Amino acid sequence: MDNYDWNNKIDYLSKTRWLYYNDDYLEFLVKMVWKITSPVRIIDFGCGYGYLGTKLLPLLPEGSTYTGVDGGNQLIEHAKDIFKDAPFTTEFVLGDIQEMEFERKYDLAVCHAFLLHVGNPKDVLRKMIDCLEDRGRIVCFEPHWISGMASYFLDGYPASDMVQLGFLQRLFERDARRSGKDGNIGIKLPVYLSRLGVKQIECRVSDRVNFLDPNSEAGEMEALFSALKEDGFGADPGAEEPFVESLVKRGAAYEEALSEYRLEAALSNLFKDNVFLTYAPNMKITTGIIER
Ligand SMILES: C[S@@+](CC[C@H](N)C(=O)[O-])C[C@H]1O[C@@H](n2cnc3c(N)ncnc32)[C@H](O)[C@@H]1O
Repeated sequence: MDNYDWNNKIDYLSKTRWLYYNDDYLEFLVKMVWKITSPVRIIDFGCGYGYLGTKLLPLLPEGSTYTGVDGGNQLIEHAKDIFKDAPFTTEFVLGDIQEMEFERKYDLAVCHAFLLHVGNPKDVLRKMIDCLEDRGRIVCFEPHWISGMASYFLDGYPASDMVQLGFLQRLFERDARRSGKDGNIGIKLPVYLSRLGVKQIECRVSDRVNFLDPNSEAGEMEALFSALKEDGFGADPGAEEPFVESLVKRGAAYEEALSEYRLEAALSNLFKDNVFLTYAPNMKITTGIIER
C-alpha cells in the first residue's frame, strides 16, 4: 500500500480542493437544497484525507458521523490525524472499494473526484446505493473535464490558442472507452443514477470561479497561482518525446500530439504570477434519494 500512487498526492489534494466550491455554497447545499435537519451517518467513498468530512461535518446537525473509505494507507493515516482533536465521530477504513462489502446502515453516501478513477463506475454506484437505508441520499461531486477545459480566460490570449477543445474531447472520450475511467463522468451521473432506480435526482454545478488578480494582495495571489499550477493549468509538460509518445499511445495522431505539446509548453512559459486569469472548474454535483 505504501507504493499506492494516491499516497504521493496528499500535497496535491490538500492544495487544490478549495478551487472548487465556496464554503457558503456548500452550506447552501446542505441546509437549503438537501435540507438535512437531523443527524446523518455519512460514508465517503474514496475519501482521500477526508476533504468532504472537513467541509460537511461542521455544517451537519450535531451527532452526525463520518466514515471515510480509501485505498491509500498514508491518506487514511493523514485523515485520522486531521480529525484526531475534532469534535466529531469519525472512522477511517483502509481498503479497495472494488473488493469491499458495505453494510446497509448509512443515511448519506458521498464521493468527491472518485468515480472518474474507477473503471466500473456503475458497479461502484450500485455499492454506494446499497449501503443506504430507505430515504437515504447519494451525492456525487465529480468532474466534467471538458467543461473545465472550456472555462479558462487568460487575459491577452484567445482561448482557442490555449486549449484545443476538439482534440481533448476526443482524447477523453477514447480514454473512457478504453479504460472505463471517465473524466467527464460528472455530467452523466443523473442518467446513471436514474437507471439504477434512484429518485428525485438533481444535478448542480460547482459555484467557484477563481480569479487570479495581479492587483490583489501578494499572498492571496501566490496561493491561487500555486494551486492552479498544482491543479495542472500551465504545468510544465516536461520533455517532448515522452509527452508525445504517451498521447500517441492514447490514440492521438502524431501531429496532434506534437501540437498539444507545443501549446502546453508555451502556456507553461507564459503562465506567470503577474497575469489575469479566470477559471471555473465546473464540477457537477449530482444527488438523489433511495426509496426501498
Ligand atoms: C482524486 S482522489 C479524491 C480524494 C478525495 N475524495 C478528495 O476529493 O480529496 C481519488 C481517491 O480515490 C481513491 N481510490 C481510487 N480507487 C479506489 C479504490 N478502488 N478503493 C479505494 N479507494 C480508491 C484514491 O486512493 C484517492 O484517494
